[in-house]
Amino acid sequence: MNAPIRKTLAELRSQRWLASDDIRGFAHRQRLQQQGLAREEFMGRPVIGIINTWSELSPCHAHLRERAQAVKRGVLQAGGYPFELPALSLGEVMVKPTTMLYRNFLAMEAEELLRSLPLDGAVLMGGCDKTTPGLVMGALSMDIPAIFCPAGPMLNDRYKGATVGAGTHTKKYWEQYTIGAIDQPEWIALEGRMTRAPGTCNTMGTASTMTSIVEAMGFTLPGATSIPAMDAGHSRMAWACGKRAVEMVWEDLKPSRFITRASFLNGIAAWMALGGSTNAAVHLPAMAGRAGIELRLEDFDAIARRVPVIANLFPSGNRLMEDYHYAGGLPALLNRIAGELDLTAQTITGRSLGENIAGHTCSDDDVIRDPASPLVVAPPDCPEASMALAVVHGNLCPDGAVIKPSAATPKLLRHTGRALVFDSNAEMLAAVNDPNLDADENTVLVLRNGGPVGGPGMPEWGNLPIPKKLLKQGVRDMLRISDARMSGTHYGTCVLHVAPESAVGGPLALIRTGDLITLDIGARRLDVQLTEAEWAERRAAWKPPQQPYARGFTRLYQQQVTQANEGCDFALLSGNAPTPEPPIY
Ligand code: FES
Ligand code: MG
Repeated sequence: MNAPIRKTLAELRSQRWLASDDIRGFAHRQRLQQQGLAREEFMGRPVIGIINTWSELSPCHAHLRERAQAVKRGVLQAGGYPFELPALSLGEVMVKPTTMLYRNFLAMEAEELLRSLPLDGAVLMGGCDKTTPGLVMGALSMDIPAIFCPAGPMLNDRYKGATVGAGTHTKKYWEQYTIGAIDQPEWIALEGRMTRAPGTCNTMGTASTMTSIVEAMGFTLPGATSIPAMDAGHSRMAWACGKRAVEMVWEDLKPSRFITRASFLNGIAAWMALGGSTNAAVHLPAMAGRAGIELRLEDFDAIARRVPVIANLFPSGNRLMEDYHYAGGLPALLNRIAGELDLTAQTITGRSLGENIAGHTCSDDDVIRDPASPLVVAPPDCPEASMALAVVHGNLCPDGAVIKPSAATPKLLRHTGRALVFDSNAEMLAAVNDPNLDADENTVLVLRNGGPVGGPGMPEWGNLPIPKKLLKQGVRDMLRISDARMSGTHYGTCVLHVAPESAVGGPLALIRTGDLITLDIGARRLDVQLTEAEWAERRAAWKPPQQPYARGFTRLYQQQVTQANEGCDFALLSGNAPTPEPPIY
């Protein structure tokens, strides 16, 4: 840790707005008094912005409006003054075409809210998939003291005697409904199940993956991530975030003073031990880019080779976040992989990660396994099958692609099959129920134009449904390849994030139905069998797909977005070159 700092009141950035004895300072104080605030309430105190991604169309964050009151109590009791600021609410399920299109929008909004207003520090309230990286990217770029307050997972539900959660179970029941194993009244009744209360998905989907990663990076209070949204402990955690944010302002504990490459590597180790979502492979390079830290896909593969999956959570396992919380949550899990962490990495508590997790033991070895008996045990002929992530390269993905072997079928990890290529998600959906579809269990399903530019926004189309005729034959998994992402709650042998994507002319754009594709996980290769002459002929004939977005945010997105291996940030937002403070006239 850098030498301790104790800022003086005059050094706080809010004082530029509030303390000056000129007409501008007068106007700022006047306008706060206009809201009924007494001068003494806000003068002479750190001002904390509560960036809240609450909205009525964001069910995972439905409780955050009320929860902000707890944050405010903490800020006030620590001698600060809080202002709640609404920010783009990215409820994963409702926002179309995909929240990924708007992650950078939220990151820009968070950064510019922090920059343009009289704020000394921030509490970032989010949790649904893209909100966590979006808020953290903004805070890293603005670089003022900021603490992340995770929304917390929803409670477990039970159905017909089994514990059921969001996402993963919906997909299972949908497959049963598709083949007639569930009738329509039961299917409708299931709408009221699985998502029992406000909070983020209670499986180890993208939400809990990302909140856990930022906790391991030191951005949250220890253990904050797994506290159920509806637990009284969640309000107490929110209160503590408010209190700590004020202290961080006096300590000038901004991200650049505690976030290092080691913080990111700790986050990756947590991700692997949790068997977390492949989506983190896009968000981590984007977050690192904002801190000016280089992170490559190879870093993920290297750590995944060392750190076993020890969290028994859906979709890799069979327990839910509530069980994991009772078992000790992330501090307990991190203690079990302590040898893979840099425990000297610093955190928002002002202490090291090692100090934060000291003494946190696991109370349920079924939920958080001992690394000696990990959750996923690979068969002898496929040692890679236990890994939470593998990175492949090859003539189909020169800049890389990712797969989650622990959620895949081991025998498909070494597989050659005939490609069945779809140019769009709509085309694929129209074909997949065709009883005459030319596909068998060895077919390799390929979906293109699902990348950052092509989607646009890299939608979660990569978990292509198994064709209905094959489901009826009992086929439950096939090798699937795309430049899209897949939901963190899904499973299957899916090679995702193929880079460069097809819409910008990556090799994926050139393959055709009938080509032979080989995945060789041992060699970390994904290749298509084509001669140089075939490549050249197809490349000469290729035309980029027509883009219908001539204006608006989507146009800006397509012009600025980087490829999946680079994090899909906007080119102009990455890097940590200093941005001047706004002049106050
Ligand atoms: Fe919001 Fe899953 S839909 S966390
Ligand atoms: Mg999700």
